[in-house]
Amino acid sequence: MSTIKFRLNGVDVEFESNPSLRLLDVLRNHFKLTGPKEGCGEGECGACAVLLDGKIVNSCITPLANVHMKEVISIEGYRETKRYEILKEAMEFEGGFQCGICTPGMMIAAESLLSQNSHPTEEEVRIGISGNLCRCTGYNMIVKAVLRASKKGEGIW
Ligand code: FES
Ligand code: FES
Repeated sequence: MSTIKFRLNGVDVEFESNPSLRLLDVLRNHFKLTGPKEGCGEGECGACAVLLDGKIVNSCITPLANVHMKEVISIEGYRETKRYEILKEAMEFEGGFQCGICTPGMMIAAESLLSQNSHPTEEEVRIGISGNLCRCTGYNMIVKAVLRASKKGEGIW
């Protein structure tokens, strides 16, 4: 057992546990943050994506030890930001989600991309979300939404 300390959605937290636990399980079961979803459980689909020190990671393959003294932002924390608002409006406008299972991870992927490249090309958006699988939309509407958000969010990213 170890004491893992990290910042979660703006709050300093501690968790006494086996450091090899999956971050996804700790978020969902202990902190009751159910935005990150379990899809494949193997790091392939992006449904469980969160930001770790601002970079996207798949929480299903991230051991708890990796977040010690770092900052984790899940969709629940990201939802409190202006950037989220802009992205959400763009997703709604373009019809970027249907069943919604992939959406939390897609939003995190879009944030990760836009925070590094505020004016991506269509190809860069497609590459940026390529680690996130969507079974419903065919991706085009999500790509349009991210491009729309990058225009609407001028100066925000
Ligand atoms: S559930 Fe983590 S990448 Fe699929
Ligand atoms: S909206 Fe259903 S998987 Fe993406």
